[in-house]
Amino acid sequence: MWSKSNPFLNGPFEPLTQEYTDDTPLVIGSIPAELSGALYRTGNSQYFKPLNPDRTHWFDGDGMTHAFFLHGGAARYACKWVKTEGLAVEQKAGRALYNGLYGVSNVAQGELPPGAPAIKTVAGINVIPLAGKVLALHELGSHYWELDPLTLETIGTFDFDGRFGDKLLTAHPHIDPSTGETLFVALDYKAQTVTCFAVDGSGIVTGEHTADLGSRSWIHDFIFSKDWFILFPSPLLSDVAEDGAVAQGNGVLSLDRSVGTRILLVNRHDGSTVTIKQPNDFEITHFLNAYQEGDALVIDACIADLLPVPNVPPVGEVFPFPFPHIQEPLFGFPRMVRTVVDVPRAQSVQRAFEGVHGEFLRMNEAVSGAKHRFGYLAFVDPQKGGQGFNSLAKFDFETGTMQLQGVEPHYPMIPGEPVFVPHPRAESEDHGWVLSVWWDPTRNASELVILDAQAFDQEPVARVKIDNRIPLAFHGNWISRSQLNSR
Ligand SMILES: [Fe+2]
Repeated sequence: MWSKSNPFLNGPFEPLTQEYTDDTPLVIGSIPAELSGALYRTGNSQYFKPLNPDRTHWFDGDGMTHAFFLHGGAARYACKWVKTEGLAVEQKAGRALYNGLYGVSNVAQGELPPGAPAIKTVAGINVIPLAGKVLALHELGSHYWELDPLTLETIGTFDFDGRFGDKLLTAHPHIDPSTGETLFVALDYKAQTVTCFAVDGSGIVTGEHTADLGSRSWIHDFIFSKDWFILFPSPLLSDVAEDGAVAQGNGVLSLDRSVGTRILLVNRHDGSTVTIKQPNDFEITHFLNAYQEGDALVIDACIADLLPVPNVPPVGEVFPFPFPHIQEPLFGFPRMVRTVVDVPRAQSVQRAFEGVHGEFLRMNEAVSGAKHRFGYLAFVDPQKGGQGFNSLAKFDFETGTMQLQGVEPHYPMIPGEPVFVPHPRAESEDHGWVLSVWWDPTRNASELVILDAQAFDQEPVARVKIDNRIPLAFHGNWISRSQLNSR
């Protein structure tokens, strides 16, 4: 690869250098007949050698969508780059022209051709279904990209008819199963505002509220309850609207300790806000769920501490952590916490789930916004070895117990985000399957592992092995065949 020293260009992160169109994976076990649809995943694979390979970042490159199509117990696999505007400009030039957004390249980028976008968004964070479409998402642009659900070809862009102008659309929308709406946020880092909006099943925006963010805090994810959009602005700031930051090779993230972590609640009905300053600084990258019980608002998430905390290792000891240019503070390895907000009093308390260190939390989203019992996450099992995540965990919030799954007993494989797919005739919250893409170091290749969620720590139901690596990445979703056919 282009750099031997940069962990994000080697091992499980090494970019793919080609697309695959119609592979037939090797299936060990039996794919349940009820799983009829596709698991879409996304991540980054640099199309061209980066301007500074030694400093290129996990979050940068070019978005590539991967799909496992399952039907009738059989599997098919494909992957394809998303044809973003920035990638098209580079393909015309025949080389990389842009600095990455999150890495600090220390390279001043050259002049771009007339009409080229000022920064290259990556389309590599998430893939979602919306209004019968399959969309690839990034968070530093004002549109998404529509993909052909079967070929993964980029069809065009999607931007809610331009309703949100230059605001930056989130890569983490959430579906509220109680209303059928999909909830989004759009950021204006210059104005330091957040616009929270809901979209109905046909893709029409049904309501929006804009609130002061109070800082240009990086908002990667948010969560919701029956009455609230919930955000946690932190001292980690987005400099994307600061002139020239990216072009000069500085990246878009910086830290300002004078900006404390706050909880910001935005009312879904009237747009009123509640802000609660937190006594300690932390960053939440991903939430699990939130729900209301009387006046209390319960929020489950993994937090990364921005100051050393006893018994929490700094992230660099566990994982090749992303922000080497931010020397201070010491990011703690993410740990799962519950925040309970007394909304009328604007007070909050937090308690940790002891020993639950991980990220990429997911759940049965049929109960999103309501009280949940189970959560699934990528986890570090100290017994298992390897660097970084080596297991998946199923956490039972009712009993406080956890089950682990490591797939291979004799060596560590590395899991991606666990996606829960409910059984079509589900009788309980964990009646369904957990789908996750794992990297196998012995083959330098990946596989889709399907677990029976009610036998989580047992032998997988099926292992769907492909011949190529899927570089360790971020998010995706299961889209059923009936959703795909509704186009
Ligand atoms: Fe994310």
